[in-house]
Amino acid sequence: MDRNLALEFVRITEAASLSCARLMGRGDEKAADAAAVDAMRKAFDSVQIDGTVVIGEGERDEAPMLYIGEKVGRQSAEAPAVDIALDPLEGTTICAKGGVGAISVIAVAEKGRFLHAPDTYMEKIACGPGAKGCIDLDLAPAENIHRVAEKLNKPVEDVTVVILDRPRHADLIASVRGTGARIQLISDGDVSAAVATGWGESGIDLLMGIGGAPEGVISAAAMRCLGGDFQGRLKFRNEEEKQRATRMGVKNLGQKFTMEQLASGSVMFVATGVTDGPLLKGVKMLPGRLARTHSIVMRSKSGTIRTVETLHNLQIKPL
Ligand code: FBP
Repeated sequence: MDRNLALEFVRITEAASLSCARLMGRGDEKAADAAAVDAMRKAFDSVQIDGTVVIGEGERDEAPMLYIGEKVGRQSAEAPAVDIALDPLEGTTICAKGGVGAISVIAVAEKGRFLHAPDTYMEKIACGPGAKGCIDLDLAPAENIHRVAEKLNKPVEDVTVVILDRPRHADLIASVRGTGARIQLISDGDVSAAVATGWGESGIDLLMGIGGAPEGVISAAAMRCLGGDFQGRLKFRNEEEKQRATRMGVKNLGQKFTMEQLASGSVMFVATGVTDGPLLKGVKMLPGRLARTHSIVMRSKSGTIRTVETLHNLQIKPL
């Protein structure tokens, strides 16, 4: 995959972030999401790729744009064939409330390298490079925390675990509290939280709990680039979801997926902050019709992690 593509993809997540960030705090999730989807879809037209959305806004009949299977990019004979996992606005409610950690995100892989995850839940665990190799979804939460503490050479009381604040996590939260570890409960946005485990300054060591499966694949791509670790297991709410997963090619419904099984080969991860979060700063609307965005660009092949701050002149290039 051409490394220059990575910077092209930043333009796409920047466009999506700028568009939905203008609707921050309006209380309108749908409008914020639609603005991000629309801007991302348009921005893809300027990138020379033969792209296929494999994780997107849903099935063709439920999403007008960026649906699973949609072709994106400016196709040409030289355009590389890539699969795309995207979320134009990860954390729609966060954006609608002006909360913490909404991002716009794209992960890219060579054809056939992402798990085609159905829109179900996934049990997840993620950690940064310092604790790589010592987490295991099959272990009890307390054991994972103790192993991470030992590997990071810190007392258990200093380990910080991020968990989505949901009733389904009552037992998980109780067992993490039982170890004495610190907990950060988040309202939404577990991609940003997973990636933050590999982001030194975040102070977050572990992500645990159940969130969206598509978000799990995107997080796995990011953790591959960061040199961290991630595991996921699909969780189904009903028989229909199981059948859908089977139709999408999942052979063993109870499988514990490693991050390499979720996102293999050479992958790229690009995200732009919408609202301030543990990973990225949100879009800042500045005087003089200027806007500043903060993005992260990573490639598994090189291990290079770039942050990009961009000043956009909205007078010259309006949204
Ligand atoms: P949206 O951006 O689609 O609103 O998803 C936000 C999110 O919090 C994800 O980060 C997370 O994986 C999932 O929703 C959790 O789902 P639920 O809200 O059903 O617990």
